[in-house]
Amino acid sequence: PRCIWLTRHGESIDNLVGKIGGDAPLSARGKRYGACLSRFIKYQREENEVLRQKEEELETPINYRRDRTVAVWTSMLTRTKETVEEFDPNEYDIKHIRFLNEIYAGICEGLSYNQIEQLYPEEFESRRENKLFYRYPGMGGESYLDVIQRLNPLIIELERMTSDLVIVTHRVVLRILLGYLMDIDRSKMPEMEVQLHTLYCVEPKPHGTVVRKFKWVE
Ligand code: F6P
Repeated sequence: PRCIWLTRHGESIDNLVGKIGGDAPLSARGKRYGACLSRFIKYQREENEVLRQKEEELETPINYRRDRTVAVWTSMLTRTKETVEEFDPNEYDIKHIRFLNEIYAGICEGLSYNQIEQLYPEEFESRRENKLFYRYPGMGGESYLDVIQRLNPLIIELERMTSDLVIVTHRVVLRILLGYLMDIDRSKMPEMEVQLHTLYCVEPKPHGTVVRKFKWVE
C-alpha cells in the first residue's frame, strides 16, 4: 500500500488496571482516541487526495489506476472494534480479522504482571529470560514466535494491496508488524516501545521505508 497507518486500540478498562489479555471495552478516554483517530485519518485522506490529483496531472494516465478505497482492519476483540466505531462504513472498507488479535496468554489471561509473578514465579522468570520464544501455558497459549507465524499470511496480503490501509490492533501485533515493515530483527521486537494513543504512518518508498509517528495529546 501507499500508506499504512498502524495503531493500538484506545485505552481499555483493563489497561487502566494493568490486566493483560481479555476482551474489555474501551474507557471514556479510549473512546475519545478512537473519535480523534477517525477525524485525523479523514483529514489526512483529504490532504492526500489533493496531492494525488496534482501528481496525476503530471503523470501519463495510461494504466494509471490506484485503488482509493481505504481499508480498515481491526482484530476481533471489542477494544479494537470500538476504536473504529466512528469510521464511516460507507467511506471505509472495515474488516475484523482474528489474526490481528493480541497474543493469547493462556492461564495468565486477565492477570496483571504482578499477579503472574506471584502466582507463577517460574513462568514469569522464563518469559523474562526469553520473551521471543516463551509460550504462555494453557490451551491456546502463544509466544511471540507463534504470533509472527500467524501474521505471515496477513503480511503477504498487506504487501499485495495498493490501497491505503489503517490497522488497529494490539501491543504485540503492532510490534511485529512495525518491526517487519521497518526491517527490525525479530529478537528486538518484544522490547519495542509502542505506546497507546500513538499512530504510526509507514510509507514504503523506492529508497526505503519512511515512518512517521503521531502522538495523541488531549
Ligand atoms: O497489556 C496490554 C497487552 O496488549 C496484553 O494484552 C499483552 O499480553 C501485553 O500487552 C503484551 O506485552 P508484553 O509482550 O510486553 O507482555
